[in-house]
Amino acid sequence: MDVKSPEEEHPVKTYGWAARDSSGVLSPFKFSRRATGDDDMRFKVLYCGICHTDLHFIKNDWGFSTYPLVPGHEIVGEVTEVGRKVTKFKIGDKVGVGCLVGSCGSCEGCSENLENYCPKMILTYANTYHDRTTTYGGYSNEMVVSERFAIRFPENLPLDGGAPLLCAGITVYSPLKYFGLNKPGLHVGVVGLGGLGHLGVKFAKAFGAKVTVISTSPSKKDEAINHLGADSFLVSRDPDQMQAATCTMDGIIDTVSAVHTIMPLINLLKFHGKLVMVGAPEKPLELEVLPLLIGRKTVTGSSIGGLKETQEMIDFAAEHNITADIEVIPIDYVNTAMERLGKADVRYRFVIDIANSLNAA
Ligand SMILES: NC(=O)c1ccc[n+]([C@@H]2O[C@H](COP(=O)([O-])OP(=O)(O)OC[C@H]3O[C@@H](n4cnc5c(N)ncnc54)[C@H](OP(=O)(O)O)[C@@H]3O)[C@@H](O)[C@H]2O)c1
Ligand SMILES: [Zn+2]
Ligand SMILES: [Zn+2]
Repeated sequence: MDVKSPEEEHPVKTYGWAARDSSGVLSPFKFSRRATGDDDMRFKVLYCGICHTDLHFIKNDWGFSTYPLVPGHEIVGEVTEVGRKVTKFKIGDKVGVGCLVGSCGSCEGCSENLENYCPKMILTYANTYHDRTTTYGGYSNEMVVSERFAIRFPENLPLDGGAPLLCAGITVYSPLKYFGLNKPGLHVGVVGLGGLGHLGVKFAKAFGAKVTVISTSPSKKDEAINHLGADSFLVSRDPDQMQAATCTMDGIIDTVSAVHTIMPLINLLKFHGKLVMVGAPEKPLELEVLPLLIGRKTVTGSSIGGLKETQEMIDFAAEHNITADIEVIPIDYVNTAMERLGKADVRYRFVIDIANSLNAA
């Protein structure tokens, strides 16, 4: 079989930064993108957020990474070319692409606008596209995407602070709605004040909830309350504080990226309370069953959101002035940013200024 190099397999030369192995070190990488198909649009990448999933992937934490791997699935750009059949977008439009660039289009999930639960969904990077070539993400100068998988960026939403909404935002918005935690007056806990967590606080507040942050970092308390608008703050490693909040919460969104104990979180729930896992630790967590029975509590999970809901979330964010708190960085800072992200040392999302810092390799 004729196996072409990443640089040769498509007609349009492009470049970005890739990890070559599970050391996760990123460096300049030349590859190529497909020609703009009838349903595709091509766009210049302007900003790309750094999600903790990018870090899990470059390090092969979950065991299914493929290399070279160009991460990035919080991508904002400007359309430069549209295919013949494209109706939603025109040249010059600002667009967003999140975690998905394809799905089967005919399964139950796809027909219910839940492409995120399609068994054949195609991830934005380290996945195989319909044409059997590897997908490469947004740490790159340009992308081509089917218009079905692009989000229209509202005019008043800042492009840099808006980028993280495309993964982190939808990942917290979707479960808050689906699990009925978007009703005013409910008490919602958010575990882990990172990229997902700080947006969880902002969306839950916008829905009218009382919000408590549950964190390992006491140093984040002041900002959580005075800047992000949380109502209270619990240090998860302080048993007295956790004990005092027993049976007070209607639901909890757990965004923690590493193995941690969830029993103390289940204890925070009222009866019928729901613990929604959205963080994705690389190893199994321990679950004691008895505390679930006593109180008919639920432990569940949620993964990003479908395209329709992602558009709805972006429009809601624009209406409520919700953006991520970001640290904008040049691409050559990305390896340091990954190290800091691994230590929960970011307030609260790194966003790469691709257009002004990524040069041809
Ligand atoms: N379900 C989905 O669709 C989806 C989508 C995107 C991301 N994710 C996953 O969600 C997780 C979080 O992503 P993110 O980008 O928000 O990451 P992040 O910015 O690194 O935030 C994670 C937060 O978890 C807390 N934390 C870290 N290590 C911990 C530990 N050992 N014990 C307890 N808490 C710890 C820290 O908050 P404190 O300092 O406040 O404790 C940290 O800021 C990742 O696993 C990512 O892969 C899932
Ligand atoms: Zn992500
Ligand atoms: Zn499908």
